[in-house]
Amino acid sequence: MKKLVIANLKMNLNNDEILDYVKEINKKHFDNNVVICPTDIYISYFLKQKYAVGIQNIFYEEKGAYTGKTSPLQAYSMGIEYVLLGHSERRYFGENDDLINKKVNSSLVNKMKVILCIGETKEERSKAKEVLNNQLDKDLASVDSRLFNNLIIAYEPRWAIGNNITPSNEEIDEIAHYVKSYLKQKYDLDIKFIYGGSVNENNIINLKSIASINGFLVGGASLNPDKLDKIVKVVNN
Ligand code: PGA
Repeated sequence: MKKLVIANLKMNLNNDEILDYVKEINKKHFDNNVVICPTDIYISYFLKQKYAVGIQNIFYEEKGAYTGKTSPLQAYSMGIEYVLLGHSERRYFGENDDLINKKVNSSLVNKMKVILCIGETKEERSKAKEVLNNQLDKDLASVDSRLFNNLIIAYEPRWAIGNNITPSNEEIDEIAHYVKSYLKQKYDLDIKFIYGGSVNENNIINLKSIASINGFLVGGASLNPDKLDKIVKVVNN
């Protein structure tokens, strides 16, 4: 099975730029192991071109008087397959594990594939496993584990996001084994594990050699279609 490449475009590109972006990536002929997460208002451009699409956040209620929110029911009904949850930039804006837990539950119940981001801060690096453990316990609390075949864990050390530094392959591999075996022991399931944080067209060659990971979450580098294409080619070859 091909490894995933999740392109998180965050809050970037204006309308002309995103239309150019679509035109450019159309030339690359990506498979559906490449998931594009554009700013919400541009999602339909990608759905129209049959891309696998993820939404960058979601609310946990299915419908109602929640101005500015989108529900998993609505997203799934549009054909949006994936949702990013617990991203450090959301945690930074005050989303706590309780809220993330509700979103994970509602998204899985509504058939979406959840990319749950976990990661330690720079200060927490020496006790990273404890931090990740705690996030997993809280974010997955009381969720029906029969739905976990649609769960992907994205390890994104907060200190590695957007600043051109990554952990060593050994460090990523150690965390991958730790998280996978923790979830295996707790739920008796093999859950997909991907890495994110400063993945780019150069370091992907080295990162790809980590056998324990099932894909990559790419922010900055995915904004450039040629860089994204290079990453996808390395991952797929
Ligand atoms: P980055 O972002 O690749 O720019 O570090 C990754 C992310 O925030 O998901």
